[in-house]
Amino acid sequence: MAIRMGVIGYGGRIRGVIKQIKGICREAKVTAIADPRLAEIKEQLGADAEGIAFFPDADKMLAKAELDGILIGTRCDLHTPMAVKAMQRNLPLFLEKPVAISMEQIRQLHEASLKFTAPSVISFPLRLTTFVQRAKELIDAGEIGRLEHIQATNNVTYGSVYFDKWYRDYNITNGLFLQKATHDLDYISYLAGDRIATVAAMMSRGRVYGGDKPAGLRCNSCDEYKTCHESPFWKYYRLGAGEKNEKGDVVAVNPEDHPCPFGVDVGTPETGMNEDSSSCLYEFDSGLQGVYTQNFFVRRDAGYRGATLIGTDGTIKFDWYTGDFQLISHHRPLTQKLTIGQTLGHYGGDAELAYDFVRGMRGELKETRSPLSAGIQSALVCYLCREAALKRTFLEVPVL
Ligand SMILES: NC(=O)c1ccc[n+]([C@@H]2O[C@H](COP(=O)([O-])OP(=O)(O)OC[C@H]3O[C@@H](n4cnc5c(N)ncnc54)[C@H](O)[C@@H]3O)[C@@H](O)[C@H]2O)c1
Repeated sequence: MAIRMGVIGYGGRIRGVIKQIKGICREAKVTAIADPRLAEIKEQLGADAEGIAFFPDADKMLAKAELDGILIGTRCDLHTPMAVKAMQRNLPLFLEKPVAISMEQIRQLHEASLKFTAPSVISFPLRLTTFVQRAKELIDAGEIGRLEHIQATNNVTYGSVYFDKWYRDYNITNGLFLQKATHDLDYISYLAGDRIATVAAMMSRGRVYGGDKPAGLRCNSCDEYKTCHESPFWKYYRLGAGEKNEKGDVVAVNPEDHPCPFGVDVGTPETGMNEDSSSCLYEFDSGLQGVYTQNFFVRRDAGYRGATLIGTDGTIKFDWYTGDFQLISHHRPLTQKLTIGQTLGHYGGDAELAYDFVRGMRGELKETRSPLSAGIQSALVCYLCREAALKRTFLEVPVL
């Protein structure tokens, strides 16, 4: 029998998630879509649109469609309002991150979650990757003694998307702690098995991206098209990125035009804009301390996303970019090295999220491995990091 999924916001990310769900479970079918871009979506789906009921908004879909699960894939600012509506159906919920972008939304979502009893999956693939799962097993087995210090980094080699795609609209994302660090602070908390209680943070804005190019400027009408490092021309000519043929070989300059990341319309420190880089200090209830730092202008082999987890007796280090994982004993001459093998999206984490959602819809589990409570906690910590950075101070994380 078909497992019927209703989707609110049928965008790029949720289509990827649905592909993984269908790969895992043949009976799972999208039977309803609520999205204002209906005509475009129907055209994209072609023959696959058959059997899907289309709705111009979420209210209509939620009122009419018979469903076994709901997925929310809108952009960030709509996650909370859509989730609050959808949760009234009390059906298994897949919700994109960040689950909320303001304190008001965090409180609304928390309030709604108190009455919600169906399984929820928050789109945090990192906590379910092989590396984090292996690290958790080793920590729980006492292999590094008591975990005391976490140093985590995310050097994002594709960081221009946060300045030349929709992510540049700060009103939608509310900055890159909520947009990006929500993943990392989530897996860090998962590994610590604890709640971040205090944060301090800094962010650097308008020093690399932003600038004095005219508002509305796009690459294809810019006289620096051939020399600008963010232009499709440069990325093809110097870095070999661009349009691919059916074999996957890069064959031409990607024609993709985009808004200038060096424009006055990127935002100003006064009106709000994304960070070129940002960092936070955190302390858990247990006293465990650590740092997380993220950078959006690093490129190529300088990419690094991973952590050093330091215990009293050993250290675990891993980097998803290189696929390297090490367990280093402090008091014996012993280092174990692991290498990650082939995985599906987000280092295997997306398939795990999809599997939990399928099991939730089949009634096989009540509590998933990436629940709404984790999404709310991470949004709260990230929101407070942003506040701490703006105020240049330490902030206590309230217990909701
Ligand atoms: N978990 C991850 O690893 C990961 C990765 C990428 C993106 N994301 C998150 O996924 C979200 C979506 O990103 P995307 O790139 O797919 O965006 P997108 O723009 O491709 O998709 C958003 C969709 O929402 C629809 N929409 C807009 N208003 C709506 C409304 N009122 N009701 C219903 N639908 C509406 C849009 O028409 C669009 O189809 C973002 O919040 C992003 O942060 C998460």
